Amino acid sequence: DGPSLQDIIGHAKEYGFVFPSSEIYDGLQAVYDYGQNGVELKNNLKAAWWKAMTQLHDNIVGIDAAIFMHPLTWKASGHVDGFNDPMIDNKDSKKRYRADQLLEGKAEQYAAAGEAEKAQNLLLEMGRLLSSEDLVGVRELIIAENITCPVSGTSNWTEVRQFNLMFSTQVGSVAEDSSLIYLRPETAQGIFVNFLNVQKSGRMKVPFGIAQIGKAFRNEIVARQFTFRMREFEQMEMQFFVRPGTEMTWYESWKEQRMKFHQAIGLPAAKLQYHDHEKLAHYANAAVDIEFAFPFGFREIEGIHSRTDFDLRNHQELSKKKQQYFDADLDENGKPFGNYIPYVVETSVGADRLFLATFCHAYTRELTGEGETAKERTYLKLHPALAPIKAAVLPLVKKDGLAEKAQAIVGSLKSSFRTVYDDNAAIGKRYTRQDLIGTPYCIAVDYQTMEDDTVTIRHRDTMEQERVAISALKEKIGYEVAI
Ligand code: GAP
Repeated sequence: DGPSLQDIIGHAKEYGFVFPSSEIYDGLQAVYDYGQNGVELKNNLKAAWWKAMTQLHDNIVGIDAAIFMHPLTWKASGHVDGFNDPMIDNKDSKKRYRADQLLEGKAEQYAAAGEAEKAQNLLLEMGRLLSSEDLVGVRELIIAENITCPVSGTSNWTEVRQFNLMFSTQVGSVAEDSSLIYLRPETAQGIFVNFLNVQKSGRMKVPFGIAQIGKAFRNEIVARQFTFRMREFEQMEMQFFVRPGTEMTWYESWKEQRMKFHQAIGLPAAKLQYHDHEKLAHYANAAVDIEFAFPFGFREIEGIHSRTDFDLRNHQELSKKKQQYFDADLDENGKPFGNYIPYVVETSVGADRLFLATFCHAYTRELTGEGETAKERTYLKLHPALAPIKAAVLPLVKKDGLAEKAQAIVGSLKSSFRTVYDDNAAIGKRYTRQDLIGTPYCIAVDYQTMEDDTVTIRHRDTMEQERVAISALKEKIGYEVAI
């Protein structure tokens, strides 16, 4: 059996990967901090994505747009009017729930009891009511299904209200001068509003893409499952601008490319699946999720959306600035395609969700040895390119010049990849310490090293050891840990 979410949360905290935010004040719900090892793993994931998107594609460039944007941005994008969750309160417990999640929970119960058709019908009815904004109907459905509050056990529900997920704040110090602005709920709009800046300054030709990594904020009502659903999180998004009519070909292509990326960083095919959207977001004409098998089931880590010209067209309308591109390529009649607003295929992955997926998959507990001497071992089976620390150099003993020799090896490697020194405790303990944070290579310095300048490399997953020359370390390990 795989680890539970509690195992993951416990390990992440104990070994410096993820801490609850402001924990000394008992934390802040759905906000987390990355520790000394977590930040390295997350940076490595972001670097892998950045390289896959920009360095490996001639026609994709990156930007870094601000979190604050002109308020009209969110009017144009549809977030002011449409970025809502339907919520309902239980009058007895005063607990707030997402109405759609209560109904989905009920459908899951039906499915688990073998009543697949009932489950399906409930989801269809919910979809119908939500898309026609029939919030009274949603409440009636919750009551008809006899859904009770898990805390109070009663079905004493308030009406259903739409709750906008955007955080807002004021700019300007004097109340009269100030205006309401939002913390961006997606990074994508920073790309849309810079579409022409990048296209012109970079002389980009359609099809081309713009990639970005940055923070996004959503006032999630039901925040749970650790870093899966956070109020402050990071997105890695890429908008690919294409000629209208070609979007479905690009959509299929990106769907495939993104799945390959997840496998390349070590997530196994068996733990990944596509999930087509039945209910499309307000901007999309086709959408699919890539889902990962978390301890709590298959859930979305990335969305690939065909967004048509929805965003650019609305920005053109509200800003009164043309968002057109002149396509000089010739059509089948030998005429230039001319001016048009490009269509967009977007890939959008959450850095924190990818982190959680990677961490859950890497967490390994297994028995080593046999019979009575068998022992349980826990380690993180991270792809070497993602591991926070690539190599640990461990002198067998501190005396007789071994410590100095080990320090010198660290000095020769650390500018190439992250290498640490550890001489504290028995060597077995030191191996375990590195296993728990996923260090792929431990380099042991012993008496033989002092004679022939060789060391042993101990491999994390197999625990096998091999003897290699110190002079070969940089190239050998460097090759394995390159992103
Ligand atoms: N621009 C499109 C967009 O934002 P989305 O499906 O709402 O689409 C994309 O979000 C990705 O961002 C998700 O697949 C997920 O990985 C991540 N994400 C969204 N909300 C999140 C949250 N509250 N906490 C952590 N990650 C989140």
